[in-house]
Amino acid sequence: MKVDVLLGLQWGDEGKGKIVDVLTPKYDIIARFQGGPNAGHTIEFEGNKFILHTIPSGIFNKNTINIIGNGVIIDPFILQKELNNLKEKDLDPTDNLLVSNKAHLIIPSHRLLDAAYEKAKGKGKIGSTLKGIGPTYTDKVARAGIRVGDILSGNFKEKYEALKAKHIDILDFYNFDYTNHKLDGVTFSDYEQKWFDAVEKLGKLKHIDSEYFINNVLNEGKSVLAEGAQGSLLDVDFGSYPFVTSSNTITAGVCSGLGINPKKVGKVYGIFKAYCTRVGSGPFPTELLDETGDKLREVGREFGSTTGRPRRCGWLDIPALKYAIMLNGVDELLMMKTDVLSPFESIEVCTAYKINGKVSEEIPFDGLAKDIELELESLKGWNKDIDRLESIKDAPQEVHNYVKFVEEKTGIPVSVVSVGPDRKQTLFK
Ligand code: GDP
Ligand code: IMO
Ligand code: MG
Repeated sequence: MKVDVLLGLQWGDEGKGKIVDVLTPKYDIIARFQGGPNAGHTIEFEGNKFILHTIPSGIFNKNTINIIGNGVIIDPFILQKELNNLKEKDLDPTDNLLVSNKAHLIIPSHRLLDAAYEKAKGKGKIGSTLKGIGPTYTDKVARAGIRVGDILSGNFKEKYEALKAKHIDILDFYNFDYTNHKLDGVTFSDYEQKWFDAVEKLGKLKHIDSEYFINNVLNEGKSVLAEGAQGSLLDVDFGSYPFVTSSNTITAGVCSGLGINPKKVGKVYGIFKAYCTRVGSGPFPTELLDETGDKLREVGREFGSTTGRPRRCGWLDIPALKYAIMLNGVDELLMMKTDVLSPFESIEVCTAYKINGKVSEEIPFDGLAKDIELELESLKGWNKDIDRLESIKDAPQEVHNYVKFVEEKTGIPVSVVSVGPDRKQTLFK
């Protein structure tokens, strides 16, 4: 068997959590392969709403094993909060949750560094979720990080103190008053205590060498779905650098983030919103800074799942979508939040950019940072509610036209049209 992949083709928050949950009954294993608690994946069913940051979105199916892979970075405190939230709803996921020994840990001072770096950047700030993502991946690559497998090694505290001391030197350099900086509403030293309690609990979860585990189960004929976090346009190599996250969010990241070879990548599901959103700084060519953008935000309830920040909104960007399709090798497209376009009489779509007077479908080196003009096509909206539809066949003709438009422009079939946040509001084509 091969590892199927589901990932976001835009700037994150495409609805990955919802769809992974919907697809979970088809898979034996769901595995996260990159990112960390900067992710916020929402799952809604039977009147419940859950937001997961570290735990894979397959956790609501008792028969599915969920793996936090080596490419993920874990904040034990946030993971513990997620586990507690699930336990409050009488769900105990610990039996079905396996954690890679090689996943790196976000320590409290990583979060301080994130805050110090963003502060120092001033107006040029990235708009990070401030979960310590950049500093933790930096330490991983700098060969200075601490991993899950270190927790039970006997010299964990020593490793922790050495890394923290290095961070404090940097914080002093930035004149960052870390003793008074609040993390989760408490001072650094109080937070550190909570963090250590959570490390102890993380030490008791099931740890595995996930690369062996995953390759073995594939050989046994079991099915695995890799769950992406963030989106392709936030990829550290191909996103609008430096306004990106610090991991490879694209299909290539599955190989390094789970320890499978490229020949073992199966079907790639590419998920996108029927329009675009972005949270944080950085170029966004189709962004609408007018009342249309406000309407998309209001109807789509576009506020961050992790930080609550308002998301920037704009029309669908076909060149950016095609770029993501190219990078990921997408087999099937899944169109999300189609219902959010229902109030619009006409819907615009960007089909090309005009850069220095030249029409282009390519994203330039500086990631569309400079002023560009958009080539827009206008499609007739359906202008009626679609959130109660049970079959795509019953959708208004204009919905079919919109789907067909995307299929023709991208050359990739759309297999799912999502019409609401609930599991049930998912139409298969
Ligand atoms: P993720 O990070 O890709 O998992 O996406 P988020 O959970 O951060 O953001 C997606 C938001 O849209 C969540 O609040 C979902 O509940 C919601 N959502 C998902 N699919 C749909 C849909 O088809 N229609 C509507 N209206 N909301 C959706
Ligand atoms: P999910 O998995 C949307 C954005 C941040 C910021 C930039 C860098 O829920 O789709 P970081 O915290 O990684 O240093 O932030 O990336 N960002 C996301 N935007 N969805 C996400 O995850 C994101 N994770 C990071 O807003 O602009
Ligand atoms: Mg999200």
